[in-house]
Amino acid sequence: MQISVIGQGYVGLPLAVAAAKADFKVLGIDIDKAKISLINQGFSPVEDISDSELGSIVKSGNYQSSSESNFSADTKIICICVPTPLGSNHQPDLSILRAAAKDVGRNLKAGMLVIIESTIQPGTTREVVVPILEKESGISRDQFLVAYSPERIDPMNKKFTIKNTPKLVAGLTPEAAAKAKEFYSKFIDQVDICDSLEVAETAKLLENSFRLVNISFINELAIFCQKIGIDVNDVIKAASTKPYGFMPFYPSVGVGGHCIPVDPLYLAEAAREVGAPVRFIELADEINLAMPTYFVGRASEMLGGLKDKKVLVIGVSYKPNVADIRETPVEALISGLKKSGAVVSWHDDLVKSWNGEISVAVGSGFDLAILATPHDYLDLSLLGNTPLLNTRGSK
Ligand SMILES: NC(=O)c1ccc[n+]([C@@H]2O[C@H](COP(=O)([O-])OP(=O)(O)OC[C@H]3O[C@@H](n4cnc5c(N)ncnc54)[C@H](O)[C@@H]3O)[C@@H](O)[C@H]2O)c1
Repeated sequence: MQISVIGQGYVGLPLAVAAAKADFKVLGIDIDKAKISLINQGFSPVEDISDSELGSIVKSGNYQSSSESNFSADTKIICICVPTPLGSNHQPDLSILRAAAKDVGRNLKAGMLVIIESTIQPGTTREVVVPILEKESGISRDQFLVAYSPERIDPMNKKFTIKNTPKLVAGLTPEAAAKAKEFYSKFIDQVDICDSLEVAETAKLLENSFRLVNISFINELAIFCQKIGIDVNDVIKAASTKPYGFMPFYPSVGVGGHCIPVDPLYLAEAAREVGAPVRFIELADEINLAMPTYFVGRASEMLGGLKDKKVLVIGVSYKPNVADIRETPVEALISGLKKSGAVVSWHDDLVKSWNGEISVAVGSGFDLAILATPHDYLDLSLLGNTPLLNTRGSK
């Protein structure tokens, strides 16, 4: 069966690869010509897919990629995996999804199944995507199938992969839900149907809002613990001995990545629109955005001011052991340090080069080192006697 996956990023490429391995004939489409050229040369742009894995599915003849937004009339399923970011006003921006839906609509034929995987507000599939598909294709919603299935991929998580992470699906009609379930069940162990598109859309937003709220809470608690001279990690370890009703979250310089700092704002906006604001999300967002400034203050306290102080920031990606710098809170940390007059260098051998600067070696010769993102490969003993500010919890 021929399928097409729109968007070959962190979500779309692993989906395309999993489907190709399950013997679907997959066309991966991405408007980013450089990304498609990389894929065509056998280089994977995402860490979860190795070059050899990509090479072997290309060799099998089950995967092709293209920067043209056209798929053939024989295509049975189209999955949309494009970004749903925040705009410059820190509000949801659906323009990329709308553009992708237009492209799909132009190629849409009766009987095809369109599945949205991008994270969106409740009502977006039904009220935004379906009307665009109808308008662009000239056929009505009862002639094609539409489903929503949120992605739960956790980049570089070796334990929970696309195969063993349960997948939610919901359909505009029961037939669409059933067809989507049938498709994913070919390469995912557990696929659960939700009662409506809106339930599945909101479930994804709940999952990510739950993380943002709890991480922001633990970050506030970490500030309190530091003030009274205890390590929040010792507190979390002690509380974790409770076998029920507690789940540990850990401190940091803030949340990053394309999902956790972004998706909850989609829920917050939808909630405001219906007059039922989710204040926890708004507060968590505020706390999250304030964490880098808090650590700039801690650094300044440790050094008695930051003017002309040499500071090394260690780990700049948004989470350990990945090279992804999207929405990384370390960017605000570095700019805050610079604004306070510090001379800032950073080290991250996974990211290597970023914002026109390159990673420097870990070593002595700095007034202060700040551990922002603790990758497993790091050897902090190379810092010698350099004072260390650990954003992951310290007394
Ligand atoms: N990254 C994650 O871990 C993750 C996890 C769960 C859900 N999501 C959600 O999945 C969606 C995609 O995220 P991602 O991380 O894969 O983004 P990404 O930026 O890695 O990839 C998206 C790709 O879509 C391409 N694109 C944009 N417009 C297009 C168009 N009109 N036609 C074809 N390609 C187009 C971009 O060039 C890009 O390569 C988002 O809604 C995100 O919230 C992401």
